[in-house]
Amino acid sequence: MKGLLTLKTIPKDMINEIISLALDFKNGLKVTFPGKKMVTLFYENSTRTQYSFQMAMLNLGITPMSFNLAGSSVYKGETLYDTVRTFEALGVDGVVIRHTQDVYYKDLEGVGIPIFNGGDGTSDHPTQTLLDLMTIYEEFGRYEGLKVAMVGDISHSRVAHGNAEVMKRLGMKVYVSGPEQFKDTTGEYIEIDEAVRECDVINLLRVQFERHQEAMNITKEEYLEKYGMTPERVSRMKKGGIIMHPAPVNRGIEIHNDVVECERSRIYKQMTNGVFVRMAVITMALTGKL
Ligand code: NCD
Repeated sequence: MKGLLTLKTIPKDMINEIISLALDFKNGLKVTFPGKKMVTLFYENSTRTQYSFQMAMLNLGITPMSFNLAGSSVYKGETLYDTVRTFEALGVDGVVIRHTQDVYYKDLEGVGIPIFNGGDGTSDHPTQTLLDLMTIYEEFGRYEGLKVAMVGDISHSRVAHGNAEVMKRLGMKVYVSGPEQFKDTTGEYIEIDEAVRECDVINLLRVQFERHQEAMNITKEEYLEKYGMTPERVSRMKKGGIIMHPAPVNRGIEIHNDVVECERSRIYKQMTNGVFVRMAVITMALTGKL
């Protein structure tokens, strides 16, 4: 299949090539694909991923189309495969898909147009990983030897799962931190207070309330105090350390209100970089490199 479904099968050199092209776009490179059209098929809510893909398309001269899930034939029982093949038959040149099901794209064998994964279940979110890597690269100029802590709701987070695999491969040491009930095997466990002292990147994660089977038995205030990023913890961060979060943020839960736009935060920069990495993956797919 063409496009970008996961970074797990993409070699390091190719990942570096994507980031390098994204940086070129940020520095003003212009590429256009006149006459091309693409659709964003989102089966889960999204602000950043969906509209940053559409912004990337507009910057490349590609016409973006949105998919209105509520008004679509999905509610007549149409399968994902049939919906994607329909858009292909209509003449679109690529689809961006976000879906609740892990690895949904295994059902899309036979689709001929590029598919870009905008997040699958709790498994993967490759363009988020790329924009996180771009932000880290801009900050530190390398990945090798950096320490990153994925902090919060690890087990429900496709960002934690997707990021950890690639970050380890690029030579970063990946830790996880947060409540016992959200732990998994993504990385070595580290207490939040040790993480802020030791790590170059504090990668906060949103508490994914919509994926929880059971309610958390802790108040918001307690969560912030025990596992979240407070101004006091920011003041104890490693020299040069940065805070990232894929957003949307739960203000007052995993992150204190005053930390969202503090000097160490790169949250809005991540969003800006997201447009450039999406321009890069679309360009590479349309020129046969992905
Ligand atoms: C993330 C997602 O949807 O996976 N958001 C995003 O794409 N920027 C993280 C989240 O929703 O918590």
